[in-house]
Amino acid sequence: MIAGNISLKQYNTFGIDAKARYFARFGTMAQLEELLQGNPQPLLVLGGGSNMLLTQDYDGLVLKNEWMGIEQVGEDEQCIYVKAGAGENWHGFVLHCIANGWAGVENLSLIPGNVGASPMQNIGAYGVEIKDVFHQLTAYHIHEKQTTIFNAADCAFGYRESVFKHTLKGQFVITDVTFKLNKQPYFNISYGAIAQQLEAMGIKDLSIKAVSDAVIAIRSSKLPNPAEIGNAGSFFKNPVVPQQQFDALKAQYPQIVGYAQADGHVKLAAGWLIEHSGPTEATSWKGYRQGDAGCHAKQALVLVNYGHATGQQVYELSEAILQSVQDKFGVLLQREVNII
Ligand code: FAD
Ligand code: EPU
Repeated sequence: MIAGNISLKQYNTFGIDAKARYFARFGTMAQLEELLQGNPQPLLVLGGGSNMLLTQDYDGLVLKNEWMGIEQVGEDEQCIYVKAGAGENWHGFVLHCIANGWAGVENLSLIPGNVGASPMQNIGAYGVEIKDVFHQLTAYHIHEKQTTIFNAADCAFGYRESVFKHTLKGQFVITDVTFKLNKQPYFNISYGAIAQQLEAMGIKDLSIKAVSDAVIAIRSSKLPNPAEIGNAGSFFKNPVVPQQQFDALKAQYPQIVGYAQADGHVKLAAGWLIEHSGPTEATSWKGYRQGDAGCHAKQALVLVNYGHATGQQVYELSEAILQSVQDKFGVLLQREVNII
């Protein structure tokens, strides 16, 4: 059933009160095919709405993906293959894997949103990305009305990137994703404060549940809970610059934070760049608030809606931040969040 003129406030974690001209849900191929038959364009596929900023009302059809189900579809000596419906909640899926002893996604605990969007930007946290556990996905072409299987190479995964954000943008509805999970865990605790957190929690016997608990504790300490303060996680990507540019910045700003990459580039912490620039030379964006749009006080990379900000106001704040970082450091930030 297609409803008209629906507020999307409860469907996006920024809590932006934009409206959809048309809105419908689907959970099966038959429902999806019916909804796509002769229906108005443009089309916006909606998962958990945790990586989008709605800057205006949506003059088209918003399709909420509610394709459910988690099943084991294969097994070999080392791995279990698990298929999950695109509408499954991501963190629920992670907990399901942990409960079954399937390793590989524990570092990705507590990332909001649904399984279907996880390959869109190759979600990542604490040293793990979806590409590390991805097997394949099923996607339905909106115009050709056909189902295609994509393997990892087809998806062209990169840092917060995939083919679905570029050449295939807006063409496919992802209906399920199959993951390749390990029977024997390979613990990845070298990133950030995981090891410290495990120690603080008094964990002696490492397990995937313990790693998940540590990641949850770290994330909860600095990222705002969208149920309390509207946000979409990191608003910008961490910019990757050549070593030479990093060296020049480091000479001028010895405290600048950067991580060497395997290809000789350096990934800068955008949170640091934003914290060390501001609306004026003497002030910082971190904790800045204009009306209900702001920059989070504990994590400058996260823009927030304190209640009634419009998407346009949050966008304008992001524009001012982007400009001031470029003016001060000569680094152009790229938005991670999808601007709708
Ligand atoms: P949505 O916001 O609903 O959609 C995102 C994009 O994908 C849109 O363009 C949408 O049209 C498209 N899309 C969604 N589902 C489908 C589908 N089935 N088929 C085709 N297109 C689709 N991300 C990280 O990578 N790492 C983090 O650590 C992280 N932390 C976060 C913390 C917080 C507090 C928040 C609010 C967000 C965080 N994010 C993080 C961002 C976000 O959670 C992820 O990008 C997540 O995968 C988005 O899922 P979603 O279902 O909410 O997608
Ligand atoms: N920093 C500051 N000031 C700040 C914030 C950060 O100086 O206000 C510096 C600190 O030095 C800190 C460093 O930046 O040590 C890195 O910060 P943090 O560990 O919080 O991670 P991040 O680089 O800001 C990235 C991802 C997150 C992911 C975490 C953990 C991007 C764009 N963001 O954030 O992903 O959860 O690492 O792996 O890559 C998301 O994509 O939405 C997201 C939250």
